[in-house]
Amino acid sequence: MTSRRARPIAPGGPVPVGVLGAGTWSTAAHLPGWARDPRVQLVAIADPVGDLAERAAERFGIPHWSRDHRDVIGRDDVAVIDVCTPSATHATLSEAALEAGHHVLCEKPVAYDFRETDRLAAMAEAQGSKTKLGFTFRYAPAMRQLRRLVDEGWVGTPFIFNGYEQNSQFLDPMNPLRQQDPDADPSVLQVASLEGYGAPIIDIGAWLVGAPYAEVVGTMRNFIPERMVRQTGRLQRMNIDDGDIFLAEFGNGAIGSVQTSFVTVGNYPGIEARLYGREGALICRLVEERGICELLHGARPDAVEFSPVPVPADCYPAGGTPAESWRTLFYANLIKDFLDELTGVVEKNEGNFRDGARVQEVINAVEASHRQRRWVSLPL
Ligand SMILES: NC(=O)c1ccc[n+]([C@@H]2O[C@H](COP(=O)([O-])OP(=O)(O)OC[C@H]3O[C@@H](n4cnc5c(N)ncnc54)[C@H](O)[C@@H]3O)[C@@H](O)[C@H]2O)c1
Repeated sequence: MTSRRARPIAPGGPVPVGVLGAGTWSTAAHLPGWARDPRVQLVAIADPVGDLAERAAERFGIPHWSRDHRDVIGRDDVAVIDVCTPSATHATLSEAALEAGHHVLCEKPVAYDFRETDRLAAMAEAQGSKTKLGFTFRYAPAMRQLRRLVDEGWVGTPFIFNGYEQNSQFLDPMNPLRQQDPDADPSVLQVASLEGYGAPIIDIGAWLVGAPYAEVVGTMRNFIPERMVRQTGRLQRMNIDDGDIFLAEFGNGAIGSVQTSFVTVGNYPGIEARLYGREGALICRLVEERGICELLHGARPDAVEFSPVPVPADCYPAGGTPAESWRTLFYANLIKDFLDELTGVVEKNEGNFRDGARVQEVINAVEASHRQRRWVSLPL
């Protein structure tokens, strides 16, 4: 047992934040989200590469920057660490932040093995640190409203969930993947889309159905045989999962399907969540089309034609509209939600490391199902 305590945060803030990583997603979504909320004090940022930290500090008005994450984690005037670095570094950096008593926002996945994420979740719970994963899409305003309607009984007993995350990001073989290992054995299909794209929609499935995944059976496929490798600048055989589908049975009797792919034609972010129940059906579509990034439609047994369902203003972050980029809109809502949790506005801590571990466990189970050609029961 640890005797460490989480760093205190005054009710109402200000919440002092240190950010690790000043790359693409940090500057496109995380930093704009923190900067948008008046309860936040951005204190320090670190990135080991060139002048990335210095440039982000200048752009977002952050007083301290460094090339070493230890300079940020070790500060006494920070209480929240935001980990927005390459996926392989998440577990180490989150653990170091928790060891220093911080609350932690981490990009997904915390770790590739669910047991490691569970270990860090337990560590956070023992000391009272709040954690949150970058499950961006459960914070889309239309998805918040879908969940609220489910809680109010709009759908009734849930029967079927269908989830999709797909777009054409890597349809072009010349577009190199960041996270994949170019030295991996080409005879073994490596998990890729299921991990990168599956996590958020797997999370939404259990969250909407209201029960954990109980059994899964799935398959993964490589469609683009050769791909540009960033490290060598050359095309080479990359045996990665470009697309996958799995069926699921949930703990409460509902059933579902999840399909992810980054080589399917269509725009970002490419999420669709459908929930069909005894009393109604709701479909939330998060795809930037014709200048709008989210749609919510519903149908009832007495009006079976799907029609638009309004999303109330309190589902949005300050100044947010469906005409804004999904990157800033959804992430600002994620950060607003974490701040509500950290400052005690709400008594909850949703989308935390424990939820991340359950999602990772499903990914690990679908991979096992594919390799062993059978249904796999959860928990593993
Ligand atoms: N939730 C989402 O919707 C979403 C979307 C895009 C990316 N992501 C995730 O965000 C993470 C970052 O992705 P990206 O596209 O910004 O990658 P990136 O490579 O552009 O940026 C990562 C940055 O982290 C820096 N870094 C590496 N080690 C560090 C350390 N120890 N301390 C501080 N900085 C360090 C790198 O130098 C780099 O600048 C990835 O895990 C990615 O999967 C999530």
